[in-house]
Amino acid sequence: TFPKQVKIVEVGPRDGLQNEKNIVPTPVKIKLIDMLSEARLPVIEATSFVSPKWVPQMADHAEVLKGIQKFPGISYPVLIPNVKGFQAAVAAGAKEVSLFGAASELFSKKNSNCSIEESFQRFDQILKAAQAASIPVRGYVSCVLGCPYEGKISPAKVAEVTKKLYSMGCYEISLGDTTGVGTPGTMKDMLSAVMYEVPVAALAVHCHDTYGQALANTLMALQVIQACPFSQRAWRQDSSSGNLATEDLVYMLTGLGIHTGVNLQKLLEAGTFICQALNRKTGSKVAQATYKL
Ligand code: HMG
Ligand code: MG
Repeated sequence: TFPKQVKIVEVGPRDGLQNEKNIVPTPVKIKLIDMLSEARLPVIEATSFVSPKWVPQMADHAEVLKGIQKFPGISYPVLIPNVKGFQAAVAAGAKEVSLFGAASELFSKKNSNCSIEESFQRFDQILKAAQAASIPVRGYVSCVLGCPYEGKISPAKVAEVTKKLYSMGCYEISLGDTTGVGTPGTMKDMLSAVMYEVPVAALAVHCHDTYGQALANTLMALQVIQACPFSQRAWRQDSSSGNLATEDLVYMLTGLGIHTGVNLQKLLEAGTFICQALNRKTGSKVAQATYKL
């Protein structure tokens, strides 16, 4: 059985555009987010308040957050690595933030310049500041199905880090297959371990499609979790290394009779817009089948 409803967390404007070689102009980012709002995605991760030296693509975070239309009923969380990022995000009008950790020591070092243990201290500071400001905090755990530097990651380690984020006060934890190496089998084993430690209602998955497994992994996660809220995510780096295309996810969920609230036609228009702005072909199979781009 499947849940009746799935909450889709759109991360294209952040996870997709942060990896673009050429920096995308701020007005293009704003237009993309507005079009995604028109498509009624319930949650749109708008940008990240990380160090511009590490990720120059997101340096216009404040302009983006201030420039987008805020639709009633849609939330626009932003990614933050530390209290400095939290404060800058709140000053720019953020009403929700997401922090990010990893189940791999080496990935934590390369992505956040700290060990997993040190990252917990940062998260504690963020969660205290967020609690004082009544800002909800979502958490990510990266490398849940494998790490580009360490290889295999044990489900027990993922469960340990996820439990820690939950006990510290993250209301939802998104389990990230950062490099898309997972398969439905590893997804099932990992989730089984995590669900033992953290309530299913607080879990989400974040699947990259690098190896073409993202839809299958999502379907497996839906079957294993069988509950909502469940979240899944979006796109759009190269078709070979990006996130799962939101169009394809919405198409599959609709076919299963699962409610998402998303308008697929409007979503396709947003996809066409950003592909044209980036001068690239869409990675979405549904878009390829629907339009001759
Ligand atoms: P660091 O160099 O160790 O930081 O980086 P620091 O505290 O020593 O500060 C160094 C400089 O950065 C200082 O400036 C700080 O002020 C500045 P300077 O004195 O040299 O001029 N700084 C900041 N500036 C703006 N905003 C901030 C901020 N913090 C410090 N928030 C740090 C540590 C965490 C900052 C750095 O490693 C960083 O920004 N990392 C972010 C990397 C990133 O964004 N990765 C991609 C997102 S995660 C992801 O994509 C995975 C996910 O999709 C899930 C999945 O797929 O698995 C979420
Ligand atoms: Mg990601």
